[in-house]
Amino acid sequence: MSVTRIFSGIQPTGDLHLGNYFGAVRNWVELQQQAADTIYCVVDYHAITGGIDADVLPGRTMQLAGDLIACGIDPERSILFVQSHVPEHTELAWVFNAFAAFGDLSRMTQFKDKSGRAKHVSAGLFTYPVLQAADILLYLADGVPVGEDQSQHLELTRGIARRFNQVVGQEYFPDVQTLLTEGKRIMSLADPDKKMSKSLGEKHYVGLMEPPKRVAKKIRSAVTDAGGEAREDLSAGVANLVGMLRFAGQPEAAQQYAEEAKRGDLLYGHLKVAVADAVVAMLEPIQERRAQLSDDELSDVLADGAQRASAIAAPVMDDVRRLIGVGRGR
Ligand code: TRP
Repeated sequence: MSVTRIFSGIQPTGDLHLGNYFGAVRNWVELQQQAADTIYCVVDYHAITGGIDADVLPGRTMQLAGDLIACGIDPERSILFVQSHVPEHTELAWVFNAFAAFGDLSRMTQFKDKSGRAKHVSAGLFTYPVLQAADILLYLADGVPVGEDQSQHLELTRGIARRFNQVVGQEYFPDVQTLLTEGKRIMSLADPDKKMSKSLGEKHYVGLMEPPKRVAKKIRSAVTDAGGEAREDLSAGVANLVGMLRFAGQPEAAQQYAEEAKRGDLLYGHLKVAVADAVVAMLEPIQERRAQLSDDELSDVLADGAQRASAIAAPVMDDVRRLIGVGRGR
């Protein structure tokens, strides 16, 4: 599977946690080693579809961008920028609203989930995947690393691209491939049947920038099972801890603990100490890099990223306007 340009986005909805790291960000970092261009975006315009909070959004946006750099997104290799700094995203999203089918959008499971929970269901929540399609296609990107939950949005993106190409009579937008980040689902520590997420509450996640003591404490308090009995499959909580140990770079130890747990002779306290040590050691260099990054440096990186992104986006948007017959043309 070869792609030439990779694009992905992440919402500034809260601090990065282990679930985001193992499920997405680490993969983004690895993809920088490939030949393809890599473009990574903090999607603040997506975040407002869940509610407006002008007091916290700017801080979260900057925080997340800085955390991505600390995790290893290299602004020399990749274009790292903030969505709202490149206004063509919203402009193309509007154009794509004319190409996206209402029926297709109505079938988006993420919309159904979110709108079921929200007090105020905005039209923005409904057209969210149209903005996502614009993010990707604005750069003529052909590879998008995402988790399984985003597959449907990428199918919609392909549909929009095809319809656009058909209407304008030109193979303008590429066929986008989903680069699935597989099997790295980290579950909540306190409720291991649910995906790790900040919205569940403090005890449920480990933030990447949390002090080592707090990280260790949260992992020590993770829900497991009574233990002491042989079993065929690991309980959700134990499987989650074993998975974290594996992802934190200790696959052999993880394998051994898993076998002991199945035999019923694993002391979960030992597993938890091993997981806590591995996670703390993994986070240490990330936290160190984060501490060294000044706000000024970060602003400069993002300004440069926006400029490089615009250099790709502006001519594409010019083409789009011309192809659909709006604007003054070139
Ligand atoms: N919807 C994605 C998510 O919630 C975030 C996102 C926005 C994105 N734009 C994107 C992901 C473009 C990939 C490509 O995870």
